[in-house]
Amino acid sequence: MRGGKCDAMPTRYSLFAKWNTCACCPAVTIKIFFIISETIRMPLLPTARHLPLSIAISLALLSCHATAEQRSLSQGWLFQKGAAPGAEQAAFDDAGWRKVAVPHDFSIMDKPDGTPPFDAKAVGGQDSGYLPGGQGWYRRHIALDAADAGRVLRLNFEAVYMDADIWFNGAHVGRHRYGYTAFTLDLTGKAKAGDNVITVRVNHVDPSSRWYAGSGLIRPATLDLLDPVHVAPDSVFASTRTASAEKGEVDVRATVVNGAAAPVKVELVSKLVAGDGGTVAQERRALAVPARGKADVAQRFMVANPKLWSPDTPDLYTLVQEVRVNGVLRDTRRTRFGIRTVTVDAERGLRINGRQYVLKGGNIHHDNYMLGAAGAPDADRRKVALMKDAGYNAVRSAHNPASQATLEAADELGMLVIDEAFDMWRKSKRDADYARFFEENWRRDIDSMVTAGRNHPSVIFWSVGNEIPEQASPEGVKTTRELAARIRQLDSTRPVTQGVNVDSPDNAPIFAGMDVAGYNYRVHLFGSDHATHPARVMYTSESTSKDAFRYWDPVGTMPWVIGDFVWTSVDYIGETGIGWMGYSKDWKELGKYPWHLAYCGEIDATGRKRPAAYYRQVIWKSGIDPVAAFVEQPAGTEDLPDREYFKDKPELDWSLHDLHQSWTWKGQEGKPLKVVVYSEHPEVELFLNGRSLGRKAVGRQTEYKADYRVQYAPGRLVAVGYRDGKAAGQWELRTAGAPAAVKLSADRRQVRANGEDLVYVTAELVDADGVPVYARDGDRKFQVTVNGAGALAGAGNGNPMDASSLQSGERSTFHGRLVAVVRAGVTAGPIDVAFAGEGLPVQRLRIDAASRSKD
Ligand code: GAL
Repeated sequence: MRGGKCDAMPTRYSLFAKWNTCACCPAVTIKIFFIISETIRMPLLPTARHLPLSIAISLALLSCHATAEQRSLSQGWLFQKGAAPGAEQAAFDDAGWRKVAVPHDFSIMDKPDGTPPFDAKAVGGQDSGYLPGGQGWYRRHIALDAADAGRVLRLNFEAVYMDADIWFNGAHVGRHRYGYTAFTLDLTGKAKAGDNVITVRVNHVDPSSRWYAGSGLIRPATLDLLDPVHVAPDSVFASTRTASAEKGEVDVRATVVNGAAAPVKVELVSKLVAGDGGTVAQERRALAVPARGKADVAQRFMVANPKLWSPDTPDLYTLVQEVRVNGVLRDTRRTRFGIRTVTVDAERGLRINGRQYVLKGGNIHHDNYMLGAAGAPDADRRKVALMKDAGYNAVRSAHNPASQATLEAADELGMLVIDEAFDMWRKSKRDADYARFFEENWRRDIDSMVTAGRNHPSVIFWSVGNEIPEQASPEGVKTTRELAARIRQLDSTRPVTQGVNVDSPDNAPIFAGMDVAGYNYRVHLFGSDHATHPARVMYTSESTSKDAFRYWDPVGTMPWVIGDFVWTSVDYIGETGIGWMGYSKDWKELGKYPWHLAYCGEIDATGRKRPAAYYRQVIWKSGIDPVAAFVEQPAGTEDLPDREYFKDKPELDWSLHDLHQSWTWKGQEGKPLKVVVYSEHPEVELFLNGRSLGRKAVGRQTEYKADYRVQYAPGRLVAVGYRDGKAAGQWELRTAGAPAAVKLSADRRQVRANGEDLVYVTAELVDADGVPVYARDGDRKFQVTVNGAGALAGAGNGNPMDASSLQSGERSTFHGRLVAVVRAGVTAGPIDVAFAGEGLPVQRLRIDAASRSKD
């Protein structure tokens, strides 16, 4: 949904029914009746015996106003790949179509014959990770009773990639071109009692993107059922005017609409509710709303001793707006927000509630690896959580608006977000990209991004674009200003920025239209640009991981440089191989199929921290893993080919250091291996099998690392960090034997039977002593199966060259590890997950899916 977390009245669920509490009528019964009929997709007619009761209920219902409701449309979709002539017609026979849950990505699906979707000849090539776009059709039947069919109906899509056409009961009701923005279709007056059908055609023409975009209904879809008198969902904006420990001033803007033919007198009750459920401020206001008209409201609330939102204290409030007419509740809207201010200047940097913060940032793309681009809320949330756990406090949503799940997770976990609009404007980067649609659509897409994001306290900046081809031309500068002006009309509280890859002085006109200057790979300009533009606030919107220190250092020494966003924090599909071989011209030659991951993520595609993530934790002095040691892969032992070729090439732009968390190097006995120790502590000492290999000082001078050459002998390699002469932390690598078992761990064991909740199950190979297996020759092939009240949503290992199916459950480990994603079904019960690895005992894990009312 757009513009807030939750706008439905309290709803309750049972196995088959979802109903609203309504004090004035027995709507509960009638709802159960029709939802059951929806479940079995067949109109259920009342039997003669029940007819009088049904009529009585219907009459009661008509004289009553059901309160606002939002229905999830995650289940019950039917899908067909390719052309489907006539599928937009209501009566079309879709019986043979495949059942899918939304969010859904059809580019990641296995082919009908069961083979993986990757294709060496895919038009998107390296950009898309050798995955195709194409056309796809979705249909969703919705059973509505007469009362619901007569309500205000709003169909919400959070993102459809891309160029979607939508029909309702056979009539064309909308088209939306951009694949990353939310849109709403007004179906009021178009529904009927009984079966209704939504049809969506997706037309993803390749090549449309520089990275893997996926295809289809990639983010959630919902249906709002509202009274004609209601708060316009996208109108609500709660912003903080001032914030201190003593007082918060919150400005609220909203619009009440009246879709009825007669004017109404409305009582709008607005409450600010704290996280503990207590109301901290409220206002009752009488409004006269004209027939088929609207009334705008502007309110100011004072909150005493507010719990201010910040990355360290992600406290949230909910604005609850109730609309009453003649004392009858017509609408309830809930919008979550935070009380916090954001200010920036070149002397004091970035401040949240007056306190200085620096941006420890990472870029992310929207895909969820084994789920493809399906923005399942739990998957989007996990990416934010992984970053938070690794010490990042900021995310740049590259290069498109973030999903609601991403923003909600950021609100709850305390991550700062740069929400970005576009990767291109009028000049295309790829033949079939959004540039085709920009001219006609940019206003609505900007409006969508801002209304969907502006109530999220995590969003601190709006970005109008990334490395826009025409950025420095007079036309580009004009567009920059137009985009920024449009944003400021909808939200003047947040700075506007842009990711620019142009050197000075050409960047001056671009940044003149911006509040904050995003530099892509331009650390060398921070000193000289400051000399010419002393008021400019700068940050690195993209940097290379291997240069982490170089990009981070100015953040500590130059107050006008407020942070750094690495390319990338989490690995992604597409731009194949850039993290392994750089982005030189040879990349085109060497990132070929079966490569499909970029492999530059500091956190790999499965969620595992790579050495670069540990280094960043250390230079950020996060205290998470204050000492960590890794080993450079010796020549001749590559677990991915081609690395040797690039070893001494300075143009290895996006590649990470070739380091590994392993002390198992068969065949290297007696040979010197390079060991790198990262440490927040000022002194480190390395021990091999209990023997000291010497102490070394570490600090800013050594870029917080110490190198050792160690003659390899199997056993235990231990790095100890010292502070004030005392051991303050240690890190151990142990030589592993052959894999003897697989260890399973799940990020949770309880889910709701809502068809949406996900569980990530990690499988790690261990030897007979429980030591993790990492070496390539230890990897094993697995079959993952899921039975019971859930299903396998995908499985991946993070190996950028393993182009086998991400959906079948047949997958090998990579560096001893494999992650499977289990999706809850819609019925409660146990879910049995089994990992069967070649030559290993089968390991099982049980997850419980509880009925939907239980969290
Ligand atoms: C940048 C671009 C990113 C990504 C990166 C690595 O120039 O903005 O989207 O492509 O290069 O290739």
